[in-house]
Amino acid sequence: MLRRYFCEFKSPTLLQRLRIATLFFLAFVFSYVLLNGALDSCQIRLPEYLLSSTDMLSSSLSFDSLSDRPDNSLETVLKKASMHDNTVILTTLNKAWANPDNSILDLFLASFKSSNQTSRLLNHLVIIALDQNAFAICKRLHTNCFALTTQGVDFSQEAYFMTPDYLKMMWRRIDFLRSVLEMGYNFLFTDADVMWFRDPFPHFYPDADFQIACDHYSGNSTDVETNIPNGGFSFVRSNVRSIEFYKYWYSSREVYPDMHDQDVLNNIKFDSIVTDINLKLRFLDTTYFGGFCEPSKDLNKVCTMHANCCVGLENKVHDLKIMLQDWNNFMGIPPSMRSELNLTWTPPINCSLALHRHLDLSEDIEQMMK
Ligand SMILES: *[C@@H]1O[C@H](CO)[C@@H](O)[C@H](O)[C@H]1NC(C)=O
Ligand SMILES: *[C@@H]1O[C@H](CO)[C@@H](O)[C@H](O)[C@H]1NC(C)=O
Ligand SMILES: *[C@@H]1O[C@H](CO)[C@@H](O)[C@H](O)[C@H]1NC(C)=O
Ligand SMILES: *[C@@H]1O[C@H](CO)[C@@H](O)[C@H](O)[C@H]1NC(C)=O
Repeated sequence: MLRRYFCEFKSPTLLQRLRIATLFFLAFVFSYVLLNGALDSCQIRLPEYLLSSTDMLSSSLSFDSLSDRPDNSLETVLKKASMHDNTVILTTLNKAWANPDNSILDLFLASFKSSNQTSRLLNHLVIIALDQNAFAICKRLHTNCFALTTQGVDFSQEAYFMTPDYLKMMWRRIDFLRSVLEMGYNFLFTDADVMWFRDPFPHFYPDADFQIACDHYSGNSTDVETNIPNGGFSFVRSNVRSIEFYKYWYSSREVYPDMHDQDVLNNIKFDSIVTDINLKLRFLDTTYFGGFCEPSKDLNKVCTMHANCCVGLENKVHDLKIMLQDWNNFMGIPPSMRSELNLTWTPPINCSLALHRHLDLSEDIEQMMK
């Protein structure tokens, strides 16, 4: 989302705001673009046989009638996908991102298959489908799919920050991830526009509860003030601290009704919850977890690259294809020569052009980020 473009701006006031907001920001930024979906209180597990129905959200699909189908329950899906240490990889998907003609999902899955370090991780990936179409496409391409749909809300299209649907989605997502933690699963949340090239797990901090990738990494993995995190990629361990943290977040919805997340953020930013519960936060180095905002400078080290700092689905797909091609070219070089050649990424032309066009039209940068 637009907030991922923070690193592009050099305005001191903005950077100041960023610093202030950073800590809370990380909880709210989970994959804006992807999460066009959300929900209310009713979590529907959609069996495959119902997919032809045009009204999957009709009240006839009661929670009870579906939840007793064991193959579709969240517990079953997570259990099947989890690693020996109860870790799962989660991503969310809606119709717009699953569209076979121009698919972020195809690129995402292709990236996993582009290296034998990551292809095995596909077994641990659970795709959380936010609408009927995304669920059907997931079932065709992947084994671990879960339907998390929203009664009365259509999230199949690209959703935008600040809309009522967006708010519902945001809160529901926090609540959903909290429930995953409560079920005892650690999760690595990844947006589907993050390309996976190497196994990220060896690069996580063993002592952190909550670690998150950055649009801009300052060089200090513990510094809340100077890092600009991006919720499109985060690894959260299930424990009392992380669960408390997510609960606190979710509860702030009641404290600040009708506020969008930026406002909630500004209201809770001085809360001492993080210190009180002793949540251990870490920011991840862009050398390993890069993106269009701040590309990893070393293809010999990179684990993931995120299509952040990019406006528009088509531009994203266009530039991600080039990124995958860069990677495949790199993998085609004999291993002994890879480090000598100092290969770099092709600059993301369409993404940056679109971004700059977008920003030029804006009178107020802050408005743009919403
Ligand atoms: C693939 O994995 C094997 C071991 O499982 C390893 O020897 C080989 O170097 C890997 N290939 C690449 C391209 O990483
Ligand atoms: C990193 O940031 C933390 C928190 O701001 C600070 O305490 C620490 O001194 C910093 N480390 C370095 C090496 O600058
Ligand atoms: C790659 O970088 C190293 C060190 O920066 C340099 O010595 C070497 O000449 C470079 N190789 C090429 C092919 O540019
Ligand atoms: C990307 O940019 C190129 C060159 O500027 C242009 O020809 C092409 O149509 C663009 N593609 C998309 C998907 O916008």
